[in-house]
Amino acid sequence: MRKIIIAGNWKLNKTIKEAVELVNGLKQDLAQTKEVDIVVCPVYPALSEVSKLTAGSNIGLGAQDLYWEDAGAFTGEVSAPLLKDAGCQYVIIGHSERRQFFGETDATVNKKIGAALKHGLTPIVCVGEVLAERESNKTFDVIKTQVTGAFSGYSAEDMKKIIIAYEPVWAIGTGKTASPEQAQEVHKFIRDLLVKMYDVGTAQTVRIQYGGSVKSDNARELMSQPDIDGALVGGASLKRDQFVALVQNANVKK
Ligand code: PGA
Repeated sequence: MRKIIIAGNWKLNKTIKEAVELVNGLKQDLAQTKEVDIVVCPVYPALSEVSKLTAGSNIGLGAQDLYWEDAGAFTGEVSAPLLKDAGCQYVIIGHSERRQFFGETDATVNKKIGAALKHGLTPIVCVGEVLAERESNKTFDVIKTQVTGAFSGYSAEDMKKIIIAYEPVWAIGTGKTASPEQAQEVHKFIRDLLVKMYDVGTAQTVRIQYGGSVKSDNARELMSQPDIDGALVGGASLKRDQFVALVQNANVKK
């Protein structure tokens, strides 16, 4: 049984004060939620403050990116040891916005995964096709290239510590969600690929989140799919009531 994991990717939103307010609210409303893993991913400057609130609670803390070197002359970057120091347990790697606007590639994703694992952070590795790729029937090719590139050189033991987020780029922030069947089809493809790259046991262990306009009203149907094990949520993670309802609706028995 894979436990559902819902992660809020706050992107470039919220001041430190606003982040603290939101987490305080989530702690109150979700204190009894034990069946779903919950993670919030605020901006870097808010991590330390938020970690004081999430410590000892049922809410995990993640960063939105990291650099693969531990320290050195890399102006503007943040490393895995610093994220650990700030209280993180998770880190998003290879989000489509990083790929699209900041030159992230499968090769840099691959290096970042190594840095995260080395320092005991759980990577949430994002993959997904753009609209033109879907429309020209290239979805599976794109996903295969991204998955094999991201995890090349990592062992089955490493893979078991990794979370994958399938996020069709055309569904991110657009209000357009992949249908549960469309999402399930790609999730199954990814899991079958993990069987080929590793083994059945590893493939069955890895949690695969869906991302792209997940809201409280579509969470249940998406999470009910056999290979969808959670969600990476942007817009709907920024409002207390919406995120709380989403987490509650994501608690499905399979
Ligand atoms: P969205 O973003 O929920 O606003 O579509 C998802 C994501 O980018 O992770």
